[in-house]
Amino acid sequence: MHTTLRVNLGERSYDLFCGLGLGSALRARIDELRAAGRKVAVLTDANLAQAQAPALEAMCGDAPRLVLPPGEGTKCLTELGRVWDFLAAGRLDRSSVLVAVGGGVIGDLAGFAAASYLRGIPFIQVPTTLLAMVDSSGGGKTGINLGAGKNLVGAFHQPQAVYIDVALLGTLPSREFAAGMAEVIKYGLLGDAEFFARLEREPVTPRSEDLAELVRRCCAIKARIVEADERETAAEGGRALLNLGHTFGHAIEQVSGYGTYLHGEAVAVGLCAAARLSQKLGYIGGAEVARVERVVAAHALPTRLREPLGLPALVAAMGRDKKVRAGGLRFVVLRALGEAATQGAIEPALAEAAFREVGAE
Ligand code: GLY
Repeated sequence: MHTTLRVNLGERSYDLFCGLGLGSALRARIDELRAAGRKVAVLTDANLAQAQAPALEAMCGDAPRLVLPPGEGTKCLTELGRVWDFLAAGRLDRSSVLVAVGGGVIGDLAGFAAASYLRGIPFIQVPTTLLAMVDSSGGGKTGINLGAGKNLVGAFHQPQAVYIDVALLGTLPSREFAAGMAEVIKYGLLGDAEFFARLEREPVTPRSEDLAELVRRCCAIKARIVEADERETAAEGGRALLNLGHTFGHAIEQVSGYGTYLHGEAVAVGLCAAARLSQKLGYIGGAEVARVERVVAAHALPTRLREPLGLPALVAAMGRDKKVRAGGLRFVVLRALGEAATQGAIEPALAEAAFREVGAE
């Protein structure tokens, strides 16, 4: 059982399949490609190769597979070089397809390898973490990290298809599931008040009956945003809205040292900081801030920094954020729960006060 969501981007349009038990559909697609003489290669990580060995076998059969170490450190130039060498050794050509089976790290790395090898080959995303399912696997942002910061080198390269099988979440560690929920909450906050209310009614778990539908709804919100502003060039609003909580969150990740907070955990604190900033700007009240914090906490996510971090370092990190434009600090703010907007020229004192309220000092 699955639903199909079309992402309409002209000649770069693709389908996103979401449901339970999509392994056989992906296998059929791979078999079809190979039967047509097109080579298929698979990129995954060691954790998944171990936890989901039978599923991986069923989905990808004997297609050549490169298994990379798990973790954010894999999104680097050295591992990218390994992927390029793997593709070249397998003599993949421009008609070949790279299949990324994994979380955001594998998806971003595989996407960038596919964008750059032979100046671009097709790739298919098979996200296996909640965060990758609702956020990073769709939309075509690919890339790697540099010592100087995350995602500093990359390309827009849309996948040919995305297969989201929520059954794969069965082996996801609970901390990772919670981290993915930060992005789910983000979608409710930025564009769907009714969806946010659903999250308030009852915390989502890997066993929630409506999990596939919730994931599909996040993907639908993202698809409509990406369709309208694929390359994040809109002067206001647009794809930048997907960064709700992320300017604060990226600063937390950077100052605490990557890996201390999972990305979703830092975004969770960032969502609470963004809510407080929105309150200071007069858009929402204390009751709405409390609602945001309750939903975040109900999904086993932090609403405040676990240990205090220095405000000067956090402010400096926010200033380096890719999303900062000339003319000062720019944030995604909440005009209401379910309605976000971009806002530039924010008084630094307001952002600092919001950061202090979630534990910066
Ligand atoms: N993850 C944010 C975006 O795809 O734009």
